[in-house]
Amino acid sequence: MSLAAQPPFQKKMLAVLEGKKFPSPPIWLMRQAGRYLPEYREVRSQAGSFLDLCFNPKLAAEVTLQPIRRFGFDAAILFSDILVIPHALGQKVSFEEGYGPRLEPVLTESTISKFQRFELGRLSAVLEAVELIKAALPQETTFIGFCGSPWTVASYMIAGAGSRDLAAVRLFAFRHPEAFSRLMEALVSASIEYLAAQARAGVEVVQIFDSWAGLLPQDQFEAWCIEPTVRIVEGLRKAAPGLKIICFPREAGSKLESFAARVKADGLALGTAENIAIVRDQLGSDIALQGNLDPLALVAGGQALEESVRRTKEAFQGAPHIFNLGHGILPETPIAHVERLVRLVRGS
Ligand code: CP3
Repeated sequence: MSLAAQPPFQKKMLAVLEGKKFPSPPIWLMRQAGRYLPEYREVRSQAGSFLDLCFNPKLAAEVTLQPIRRFGFDAAILFSDILVIPHALGQKVSFEEGYGPRLEPVLTESTISKFQRFELGRLSAVLEAVELIKAALPQETTFIGFCGSPWTVASYMIAGAGSRDLAAVRLFAFRHPEAFSRLMEALVSASIEYLAAQARAGVEVVQIFDSWAGLLPQDQFEAWCIEPTVRIVEGLRKAAPGLKIICFPREAGSKLESFAARVKADGLALGTAENIAIVRDQLGSDIALQGNLDPLALVAGGQALEESVRRTKEAFQGAPHIFNLGHGILPETPIAHVERLVRLVRGS
């Protein structure tokens, strides 16, 4: 057969993002590079701080590739963090064992305008890592870049830390709507510039993580989750044509339908608590769906894992589906359970 007669090679995950359906879906896991892997812990202990690891192109590339070598996932996700954007806006970001992220100074109405100038140059090490990873990935592996949504990133910038109820950012948005809008505007343009640069350096898909979308009432959800994301997607369609976009408005539940109607993404990632039958009913089968195995079923393993995988595959049967967890893999997850998961999903 002549070369010209061969169908062009298409990566499985990219095919799903174009609406194709497979009996066994492509699979990757959120936080697939991380503390459950001994080889990650080894590199992490040599790297210094967590941000030192994110900003060391060789080591960031190495930990991105570790789960691909070990499990042969269908996609690699760039090793970095959503909080590199606040870093590039001038906040001091650090991570403490047992505390989580810390951002300084905490933003106030009078200081907020000082943290709105995005310097892409402060993230050049991340873009270098993207180039190294791109050159090293197997041809069948899709390469995913990412950022946090403006809402989720703003929640950390304003509270200066993680927060379960988002009280600080929600109160700030009520009290200082104009100052808050300007910060959100700055985050929208920073996200477009950053993701377009990732695409130029080699990523084929980006995922926008909106971890704290689910907590908002409908009107705030529209103002702070839907509208900024619409602007990012529209901006990227111009700045990076051909780039596939997955949105993860985590646990949006009854608000998911309004999100999908406005945000023209290629894929939607679904949290553990979403009702897949209802989601499919509301969204139809044009958009690819990603998710949503319970990360605790993967920790438990055994029959709980088998049952959960079977139910997840059944729930998405007939839809363009990318197998994943409903949230990040937990550090206590046994490696043998991840190996078992990949075999169960692939039916091998
Ligand atoms: O998925 C991947 O493998 C890519 C890398 C990635 C990380 N963080 C690495 C990381 C991605 C995509 C993220 C996204 C991220 N970061 C989100 C959105 C997704 C989600 O989980 O809801 C959020 C909210 C953050 C902010 C963040 N980063 C927190 C709250 C923490 C501390 C919690 C913890 O697990 O310690 C981090 C640190 C972090 N980011 C780690 C990793 C592997 C652990 C740090 C370490 O190794 O010590």
